[in-house]
Amino acid sequence: MSKPKILIQFDPDAHASVFDSVVAVDSGVDQLLLQPNVSERDVQGLVHGAMFTRGPEDLRSTALFFGGSNVERTEALVREAKKCFFGPMRVSLMSDPNGCNTTAAAAVLCAQQSIDLADKTITVLGVGPVGQRIVHLVTGPATEGLVRPRIRICSRTKEKAVKLCDELRESIPSEAELIPFQTGSAEETIAAIDGADVVFGAAAAGVELLVDGWMEGERPPAVAVDLNAVPPAGLHGVEVMDRGEKRKSTVCYGAIGVGGFKMKIHRRCIQMLFESNDQILEVEQVYAVGRKLMTD
Ligand SMILES: NC(=O)c1ccc[n+]([C@@H]2O[C@H](COP(=O)([O-])OP(=O)(O)OC[C@H]3O[C@@H](n4cnc5c(N)ncnc54)[C@H](OP(=O)(O)O)[C@@H]3O)[C@@H](O)[C@H]2O)c1
Repeated sequence: MSKPKILIQFDPDAHASVFDSVVAVDSGVDQLLLQPNVSERDVQGLVHGAMFTRGPEDLRSTALFFGGSNVERTEALVREAKKCFFGPMRVSLMSDPNGCNTTAAAAVLCAQQSIDLADKTITVLGVGPVGQRIVHLVTGPATEGLVRPRIRICSRTKEKAVKLCDELRESIPSEAELIPFQTGSAEETIAAIDGADVVFGAAAAGVELLVDGWMEGERPPAVAVDLNAVPPAGLHGVEVMDRGEKRKSTVCYGAIGVGGFKMKIHRRCIQMLFESNDQILEVEQVYAVGRKLMTD
């Protein structure tokens, strides 16, 4: 008889994310162990507690989830956890701080429902944790490196856009061309989407990036994905529930439209953690799970 499924939720925040806990329960976890306020030095002891309590044949029934509001802090915890595993002594883990991996995967997969991203020009407005993972996916596994896309990396400050391009080139080995764009004004933001095939709106919540009229421009993007669920819309005219609606000549995806699929990906990833004890689900693997869900 298989052991109860235990998910240990690591979170550097003072309170472990309620959102992540609810998804875990809805995904069939039997017992959720919350670990808030986790720092790097705590990780080894906690992971050893997960690894050394059940026999190797039962380790698939214990898994780790890493969440939290500060993506860099959580990723540092994940690095520490991975160092603890050896040989068959390991448990599966998933990383999704602030929902960045599941959200980026869902956003890219939604866009791909409407357009083949290979050899396209893609504008990413707002290159925080979610935007960076969108760039990662469209420059690598999402296009399968077949034909190099051109990615416009947008920030309100030129220096930051240039720095982000340099950092992303280093962290994502790819043939993609990364082009920095300053988008500090409405005019600059319009210039950043001019001639682009796809625009992803991934700036902070509640920020209107593209104002009324952009869809009537001479060369509006064929596909627009807006991840901002807090009014006003990030890309004016994209409705929050859109999931492939055509508005003017642009196929639109809104934050809830994408979010529903993101939730499915999250739940499926949690279920997969308990299928074997050797899975590491980070952005590329999360994307692969989403792709399978979309094609099944
Ligand atoms: N639909 C879903 O299921 C879901 C799930 C998770 C997240 N989200 C949404 O995804 C989006 C991106 O999340 P994130 O955590 O990556 O965002 P974030 O870190 O809060 O912000 C991303 C970037 O937005 C830019 N920004 C901040 N304030 C701005 C302003 N007033 N005007 C223009 N740009 C501004 C900043 O870039 P610069 O300083 O370089 O300009 C910042 O790095 C958010 O809207 C979030 O709510 C959606």
